[in-house]
Amino acid sequence: MIIRPRRLRKNEVIRNMIAETAVNPDSLVYPMFVVEGEGIKEEIASMPNQFRFSIDEILKELESCVAIGVKSILLFGIPNHKDEIASSAYDKNGIVQRAVRAIKSKFPALYVITDVCLCEYMSHGHCGIIKDGDVDNDPSLELLAKTSLSHAEAGADMVAPSDMMDGRVAAIREMLDANGFSNTPIMAYSAKFASAFYGPFRDAADSAPHFGNRKSYQMDVRNGREALHEVELDLEEGADIVMVKPGLAFLDVLRQTAEISNVPVAVYNVSGEYSMVKAAAKMGWIDENAIIRENLIAFKRAGADIIITYHAKEVLEKGLV
Ligand code: PBG
Repeated sequence: MIIRPRRLRKNEVIRNMIAETAVNPDSLVYPMFVVEGEGIKEEIASMPNQFRFSIDEILKELESCVAIGVKSILLFGIPNHKDEIASSAYDKNGIVQRAVRAIKSKFPALYVITDVCLCEYMSHGHCGIIKDGDVDNDPSLELLAKTSLSHAEAGADMVAPSDMMDGRVAAIREMLDANGFSNTPIMAYSAKFASAFYGPFRDAADSAPHFGNRKSYQMDVRNGREALHEVELDLEEGADIVMVKPGLAFLDVLRQTAEISNVPVAVYNVSGEYSMVKAAAKMGWIDENAIIRENLIAFKRAGADIIITYHAKEVLEKGLV
């Protein structure tokens, strides 16, 4: 035998020397939930160690996050008021807008990305205006664009539309540019699948649809080629970053997206992926830290530049990457 790959696996020094993949801690984005009220830090039952914070509490929490090296958060709002036109999504004094102002004034260097969607703000829990029992695409675009603008005005560093309406990147770009925010980037949830892996998030954000499902706007999990079409459209419409979501069950799509994209690629390690790791760890069935690390490496190896993950804080705290 001449060729023996095991020669380069002999010890840790040589293994580290030839390691192809490393996760950059600065590429981790930490998703967080903010609610109305004061003094609230409520653990999300299906997502151990993730919380709904009121603004005063999120400021306290961010103190420790920033201290351990969290550079960026993805913010989700849970409003008190929901209606048929998602009016608190684009209210200047909505929960996200107030939270962003408070966060940016206390932590100007923290990079704040806002999730732009309407489902948390709609009484029916869908991601757009309902007409004849389905989400009506084009009228929803205006609300998404208005919401993005209100986030930018509040001081958001980047907006991230997660609704999967056709044409929303262009609509948001146009609205931002017309109002002096041509330098605010858009991270598009481009290949977002209608996935059961979002289950725990919908508990967390109280955003489950009250009738039907999201399959008429989010992608069919069986389709890979269609995901690339979505990515191409978002690139044409001016997306600054494209995203694949969920991550683990869609690594093939992530790899293909990384191959065709000429902008950075993000992956969302979603709630269900997080909760499964936490549940198995709690049962004592897996080595939690090793699994988290392996998952993050898988995203990186598949081509992700940015990893959005609920594990971000613990990864930095424990020095897992
Ligand atoms: C809003 C939104 C969802 C997630 C991110 N933005 C839920 C959904 O589409 O139903 C899921 C995130 C996660 O599961 O961690 N549309």
